[in-house]
This record gives sequence, C-alpha cells and structure tokens, in this order.
Amino acid sequence: MDAARHWEETMSNDDLFGTNAFSRLDETDDEIFYARDRFVQHLDSTALATVEQLIGQLVIEENPIILDLMSSWDSHIPASVQPSKVVGLGLNKNELEQNPALTEYVMHDLNKFPLLPFPDASFDAVLNTVSVDYMTNPIETFGEVGRILKPGGLFLVIFSSRMFPQKVTRVWRQAGENERIILVEEFFRHSQLFETPKVFISKGKPRPQDDKYAHLGIPSDPIYAVYADRKGAQAGRMRRPEVSSQHGSPLPAETLQQRIDAVKETLRCPHCGDIMRKWAVPYTPFTTWDVDFMYICFNDTCPYLMRGWEAMNKQGNRGLSHRLMYDPVRQRCMPVPVPSLDALKESIVE
Ligand SMILES: C[S@@+](CC[C@H](N)C(=O)[O-])C[C@H]1O[C@@H](n2cnc3c(N)ncnc32)[C@H](O)[C@@H]1O
Repeated sequence: MDAARHWEETMSNDDLFGTNAFSRLDETDDEIFYARDRFVQHLDSTALATVEQLIGQLVIEENPIILDLMSSWDSHIPASVQPSKVVGLGLNKNELEQNPALTEYVMHDLNKFPLLPFPDASFDAVLNTVSVDYMTNPIETFGEVGRILKPGGLFLVIFSSRMFPQKVTRVWRQAGENERIILVEEFFRHSQLFETPKVFISKGKPRPQDDKYAHLGIPSDPIYAVYADRKGAQAGRMRRPEVSSQHGSPLPAETLQQRIDAVKETLRCPHCGDIMRKWAVPYTPFTTWDVDFMYICFNDTCPYLMRGWEAMNKQGNRGLSHRLMYDPVRQRCMPVPVPSLDALKESIVE
C-alpha cells in the first residue's frame, strides 16, 4: 500500500468531514425505519425520465450485470440497457420483491455492515439513486463499490433535493445543493479506486402539470449525478460518452445570430422569444456597468438559463447559471450569472 493510501485509510470520517458529520436525527436501526412499505416515487415524472435517460446513456456494456444499491420497487433502468442480471440491495422486502427490474435481491444494511455481500469484480455497473444522503460510512461504501466493480465499471450516483430528513446525514442536510456535488466527488476521491468523477446537472425544467406539487409553482426536481469508472479499464475498451442535459434544441446558428441582431428592436430573448424585462442596475461599488438599465430574460424555462447550470459548472462556476442580458447603450447581449431562479428579480422595474 502506498503512503498516501495508507494515510487516507487511517483518516476517520471525523478527520475528513468534521465531528458527527454522518450523524442523523434518527439513529434507530435503518431496518426499523424502512420496514414500512413506501410504494412512492421520490421524484416527479420529468425528473424520473431524466434519470432513466442518464442510466441509458451511461451504462454502455452489453448485457451488463448491474447492482441497484439502496434499491426499492423501481430501478429506473430503461429497456434499451438489456441487463443480464440486476441485483437489488435494500431494506424493504415487499418493495424489492415487487421491483420488476430485479433478477435477485438481498436485504442488507450497509450502514451497519459496510462490507457488501458480493465477490470482487462482479458487476459492470452500480447504480445508486436518491440514496447517497443516507450513507453513514460513504468512504467505506464507495470503497466497497470499487471492490465489487469490474475494472472500468461504472458507479453512477444520482441525487436530488428531496429526502427523509430524519435519516439523512448531518453533513448532507447542512450542505447546499452545490456543496453536495462536491461531497460526492470527495467520496469518490477518498476511496481512491475511481477515475476522476464527472458531473451531470439537470435543473429548472418545468414541473409536470399533473404533479402533486405543481400548484406550488416550483420547477421539476433537480437531478444531479456524479459518476466515475473503476480504475484499471483495459486499453481500447469502449469509452463512456460525456452526457449533458438537453434543454430544448439550440436554434441554428444563423437564426440565433439574426435574433441576437434583432434584440435592439424586438427586446425579445433570442433563445426563447420572451420579452426581456427592464432591470435597474444596482448601485454597488462592485458593479462595473455604467448604465442605469439593462434588459434581462426572466423566463424560468428559457433554454439559455436551463443549459447554463451545466455550462457554468463545467467552467468551474459551481451552482450558477446565467440569464441573457441586453445592454441597450452598447447594443450587446451578454450572460449575467445567477445563483437561483429568484436572483435579480427584485430589480425588475417594468
Ligand atoms: C429514497 S429511497 C430510494 C429508493 C430507490 N433507489 C429509488 O430510486 O426509488 C432510499 C432507499 O435506500 C434504502 N436504504 C436506506 N438505508 C439503507 C441502509 N442502511 N442499507 C441499505 N439500504 C438502505 C431504503 O431501503 C430505500 O429503499
């Protein structure tokens, strides 16, 4: 074992993430909490479709052997994947028994018994959907996933913003949504068995009309994924694609350019066609804009905004998207960064 790995292995969760980072409000046995059947979806239908699409794009192995880690009654595996075997590991027997994707299942509490009951290098892909927030020994669990994955195999960790708060670890509850991405990246990194993880973000899609929370006027549940291949893939094996959330199809370049050129007359966003709103530039010592007003597209489903979460993340700007802003003096469109859908709206003047 090299010195760096030994040092990491002797570090405790407390050393790495702070004392009691993985404590929970409800410290009773997980088996007790999950004994009650919950035949519910934990995401709205738009978000679920994104999850399926993501799994379909990333699991590229032919007839893969898959582990659904922390599984319930739906594994979200699209028909295109055609697995030869899907094992579910979870805590509720009725839910696992009724999961149509599973060819077999095991009841196993991974918080109590971090060693996973599978041989080394026995899976092509391990999926973990909306459950990483319940892991109390994530470094050990990620290490175990690395052990049971074949070299080059995929560990795909998908999460959102909904949770059973009493069973979620303290560090997860206290982190913001963007910090949670970093947390999962850290779990991968500290296990030392994976290639550099990649991030996928889908945020701001319209909520389906028939969803029970549609009346709240909130967007579809965000989907975040952090995924990485087990180190040691054979040279020349099929590469996993870079995936990116598709939010509307970008307009052909010449049409987009024509629309950008027309903004001075139309004041319409070239990406979605909505009227841009007049916006008072705030007076702060940090603003370098020397105009009193700008025009900004405040359409919460504008493709420019929706693509922006991922585009900004790729540039290292965690947790930001951008809206399109038009400077009427210089007659120029430019991006203005936003940390949330509500940001900047307080200065709309018309
Ligand atoms: C929010 S549900 C998600 C279920 C499923 N992955 C999905 O996408 O619908 C969390 C799941 O984690 C499982 N789980 C929670 N704590 C666990 C533990 N300590 N060991 C194993 N599974 C656990 C539960 O059985 C439950 O089904």
